[in-house]
Amino acid sequence: MIAKLAAPVTIGRFPTQRPRRLRDRAPLRRMVRETILAIDDFVYPLFVCPGQGIREEISAMPGVFHLSVDQIAEEAAAAAADGIPAVLLFGLPSHKDEVGSEAYADDGIVQQATRAIKQAAPGLIIITDLCLCEYTSHGHCGVIQHGTVDNDATLPLLARTAVSQAAAGADLIAPSDMMDGRVGAIRQALDEHGYAETPIMAYSAKYASAFYGPFREAADSAPQFGDRRGYQMDPANAREALHEIALDVAEGADIIMVKPALLYLDVIRQARDHFTQPIAAYNVSGEYSMIKAAARNGWLNERQAALEALTAIKRAGADIIISYFARDVARWLREG
Ligand code: PBG
Repeated sequence: MIAKLAAPVTIGRFPTQRPRRLRDRAPLRRMVRETILAIDDFVYPLFVCPGQGIREEISAMPGVFHLSVDQIAEEAAAAAADGIPAVLLFGLPSHKDEVGSEAYADDGIVQQATRAIKQAAPGLIIITDLCLCEYTSHGHCGVIQHGTVDNDATLPLLARTAVSQAAAGADLIAPSDMMDGRVGAIRQALDEHGYAETPIMAYSAKYASAFYGPFREAADSAPQFGDRRGYQMDPANAREALHEIALDVAEGADIIMVKPALLYLDVIRQARDHFTQPIAAYNVSGEYSMIKAAARNGWLNERQAALEALTAIKRAGADIIISYFARDVARWLREG
């Protein structure tokens, strides 16, 4: 817990106090700016698909592509050259089944991409999203038993996937399934297989959000029946987020995450005030696509809107921002 600071005391009032004095000139504004985005803050999500030479734009996410293994290696190397420290990998398998076998196959699509990126950009941190929804025929994040997602039957498959991803060269494992106890199960499996040094970035406070809509097209991961409200969090709850995060930390999470980011800035702030772990915030597909769509219609200035949104996420308390805008940010920061 971080102690509450005393409220700042403002002595005097207008005309003695004129906050505009510090806003008048750009260099002065720069000097008193409280939050500064840096490319080091960013994680760049990528989608790998089967095939060769494929670079296909996702219609609901302009500027984001399905990339075959050869192409994802190139894109990752370009991101590394931009100064982006890490990528987050999602896979579209060639085959789906009831138990998501390709998630934990040695030659699974994410495992292949991980090896290719390691070759092309050895210094880049590879984070692998760990979930079954892209790999299961029913599109749920765990195995189905008696018509519902069975929590405890899913844990061994998640643990197996984590080990398989680490063996392929993943630097950080990011479970996004929201099963209870998964961080502990994954930590134990990694430790037992010689990956005690591989950290876990847990999607701790992950809400059942409508703002994942475009991602479901990108990852072809929409549930074929029902929805995810039985395992992802109710958007109405904030105290519960602190409970979820506390459990993940107790089970061994090294980095905690709040997702989505923009609609949950209050949750990011509360997490920042209650926990000492680094906090990642996921600026999700819907948050990205809204800005893209409005910009395309001439309703918003894309660069200004995106930078304002991302600055807000950092101001709320995030250390790490996962965003499809990462390469755009690199360019905007370069342009100054
Ligand atoms: C997989 C997963 C999802 C996202 C990240 N990992 C989709 C979901 O939970 O339905 C969403 C990312 C985004 O919208 O950008 N479980």
